Amino acid sequence: MSQWKSVCRIEDIPVLGARRIQRNNAVAVAVFRTADDTVFALLDRCPHKGGPLSQGIVFGESVACPLHNWTIGLADGCARSPDEGCTPHFSIKVDAGVVHLDLDELNSIALGEVSAAT
Ligand code: FES
Repeated sequence: MSQWKSVCRIEDIPVLGARRIQRNNAVAVAVFRTADDTVFALLDRCPHKGGPLSQGIVFGESVACPLHNWTIGLADGCARSPDEGCTPHFSIKVDAGVVHLDLDELNSIALGEVSAAT
């Protein structure tokens, strides 16, 4: 059974924006909020050249990377054609307005890696 870690409240995330969740010795997680308050979580690293997706613009269920404007799907972390590549996505649970991430994923995905973005 998953263990969940509370990371913020939905209202802490800007609408059509993101909040960064810092981790020790790992790339941060970007938690996104859509116009209808759906929440998604991706590694804060674009599959192209590592751009900080948390600084992109959310539209629909996608985010536009701030570096070269690739469109990344929030549900799967994958670039939309003709671009290719995926960044890891994280499981998410919202309970009474509180956003939770899966503890095992937080402690394993992209651990020990650093962001390539500069
Ligand atoms: S780094 Fe995201 S589009 Fe290039």
